[in-house]
Amino acid sequence: MSLLEVTDLKTYFHTRAGVVRAVDGVSFSLERGKTVGIVGESGSGKSVTCYSMLGLIPMPPGRIEGGAARFDGVDLLSCGERALREIRGKRIGMIFQDPMTSLNPYLRVSTQVAEPLRLHMGMDKRRAHAAAVEALREVGIPDPETRVDMYPHEFSGGMRQRVMIAMALITKPEILVADEPTTALDVTVQKQILDLIKARQRELGTAVIFITHDLAVISEVCDEVNVMYAGRVVERAAAAELFEDPRHAYTRSLLKSIPATHAKGEELYTIPGLPPDVSRPISGCAFAPRNQLGESGRCLTDSRPPLTEIAAGHWVQDCPGCLS
Ligand SMILES: Nc1ncnc2c1ncn2[C@@H]1O[C@H](COP(=O)(O)OP(=O)(O)OP(=O)(O)O)[C@@H](O)[C@H]1O
Ligand SMILES: [Mg+2]
Repeated sequence: MSLLEVTDLKTYFHTRAGVVRAVDGVSFSLERGKTVGIVGESGSGKSVTCYSMLGLIPMPPGRIEGGAARFDGVDLLSCGERALREIRGKRIGMIFQDPMTSLNPYLRVSTQVAEPLRLHMGMDKRRAHAAAVEALREVGIPDPETRVDMYPHEFSGGMRQRVMIAMALITKPEILVADEPTTALDVTVQKQILDLIKARQRELGTAVIFITHDLAVISEVCDEVNVMYAGRVVERAAAAELFEDPRHAYTRSLLKSIPATHAKGEELYTIPGLPPDVSRPISGCAFAPRNQLGESGRCLTDSRPPLTEIAAGHWVQDCPGCLS
C-alpha cells in the first residue's frame, strides 16, 4: 500500500459569487521516499489539494465535499483536528512559497525551528535549541551557533528558505509538502535549494509532494508528475515519460511554453486565453477553449472527460480533442 493515497478529493469554496470548485475529484498516490509533482497554472488547485489533506483550508468558506486521503492507514480528511495535529508538522512537514508569511518576524529563528520538537517530541528548551543549531548546519547555514538566535529579517531570501526546510524536516517527517519552495528565489539560489531538498530527502528517506507551476523544476526533482487543470488531474505519468511522450493537449502546451525546451530562434509558445472560472460549472472538456495543439472541435462538450490509463502508469483525460 502507498504511504499516501488521495482518492477523489473534492474541495469547494462557498462564496457569495458562487461555488468555487477548486479541487474537483483529484486522486494520486505517493510511495515512501519518492517525489510526486503537482504542476499547473495559477488557480488550478495545486495548493488547495495539499492544504485540504493537512486541514489547512479555511472553513467556511471552504468545505471538503468528498474523497479520502489515507496516510499510513489514517484518513486525514476525517480523522479530526486532534489526530491531524499529531501528524501535521511531525510526520508530514511543510514548506510554503513565501517564508516571510510562514516565519514569525517577531520570534528568533531558534524558537521557530525548535518548535516542532518542543510541541511534538516534548523536548526541553536546551536540547531543542541544540537540535535547531544542528538542523541549520544540515541545511548549509554558515555559523549556525550565532545565526540561530537571529530574527528572520536578518536572513536573505535563500537563507530563509533554508530555515524553512530545516524547520520542516527537524522531526524527520515521512512526507514533505513543498509548495512552490523556490518560486520567489533567483535561478542560482533556486538550484541550490532544489539540490538541498533532494539531498536531505535522500538522507532521511522522506517522500515529497512538490508543487510548482514550473515544469523545468519538475523535471529536476520528480519521479511522477500530476498535471492539474481546473481542479482536476488531466495527465499523470513518470516524469521522464511525461516529458518524452505528453499525450494531453494541455501538457503539450505547457511543455511548449518552457524556455528550456524551445528551439533557438523559435518564438516561445504561450497558451492562449485564461484558465476557466471554476466558480461556474464546467460541463465538458475544461481545456477546449484554449486547445490549439489538439482538435478543439472534437473536445467533449457534455461531460467531463474521465482519467484513463493509456499505458502502464500513464493516465490521461480521455477527451477526443485533447488526447493524442
Ligand atoms: N479561501 C478561498 N476562498 C475562495 N476561493 C479560494 C480560496 N482559496 C483558494 N480559492 C480558489 O481555489 C482555486 C484553486 O486555488 P489554489 O490556491 O489551489 O491554486 P494553485 O494551483 O495553488 O495556484 P498558484 O499557482 O497561484 O498557487 C482558485 O480558483 C482560488 O481562487
Ligand atoms: Mg498555490
